[in-house]
Amino acid sequence: MKPIIAAPLLALLAAFALPAHADRYNVPKNAAFEEECASCHLAYPPQMLHADSWRAMMGDLSHHFGSDASIDEKRRTAIADFLVANSGGRKTGNTRDAKGKPLLRITETARFEKKHREISAATWKRASIKSPANCTACHKQAAAGYYNEHSITIPK
Ligand code: HEC
Ligand code: HEC
Repeated sequence: MKPIIAAPLLALLAAFALPAHADRYNVPKNAAFEEECASCHLAYPPQMLHADSWRAMMGDLSHHFGSDASIDEKRRTAIADFLVANSGGRKTGNTRDAKGKPLLRITETARFEKKHREISAATWKRASIKSPANCTACHKQAAAGYYNEHSITIPK
């Protein structure tokens, strides 16, 4: 049977299905990424960092923010490829530090700082939050890729 919808039309439909709002981040399905990168924290959306940042991070998993997150070489390469292929590119804004080194933290990017400038240093340190990297503390549906204001509750 011939396909009912022609390929170019499908591509067009896919383009319209992309997240329409800046607050929606679909984390594309990837088994290795979910298994290896969502055990200590949530699966951060690949779109939130530039490809160079993911390359730098995936190049040194044994010194991963004070943790050893190293994995076998085959998985490491597969996950790195996945992250780079889905990285934010230009849309993430500048993800380099003043010296031009790729930032490894989403929470240090200008985009993150801009979206969170109303949150005080004391709030970040609350026992219920602990770290800006703990997205789920406030974004109740972060694991599903939803970051919009309707799903935010800042815990006391
Ligand atoms: C053994 C635990 C562990 C594993 C496994 C792990 N991480 Fe992490 N990751 C951490 C810790 C600890 C931090 C720092 C959290 C903090 O500052 O509160 C972190 C932070 C991060 C951050 C920065 C968050 C921010 O501040 O913006 C990213 C991005 C990240 N991890 C990605 C990954 C990826 C990709 C993988 C899979 C290859 C992975 N992590 C696997 C422990 C882990
Ligand atoms: C202390 C609570 C808190 C934590 C932790 C937190 N956020 Fe937020 N986030 C907020 C608030 C409050 C806003 C602003 C909502 C507004 O003004 O529309 C926001 C806004 C955002 C937005 C913009 C949403 C929009 O509607 O445009 C994104 C994206 C986002 N956060 C991602 C993250 C990510 C990723 C993490 C973890 C790395 C994180 N946040 C951690 C509280 C938090």
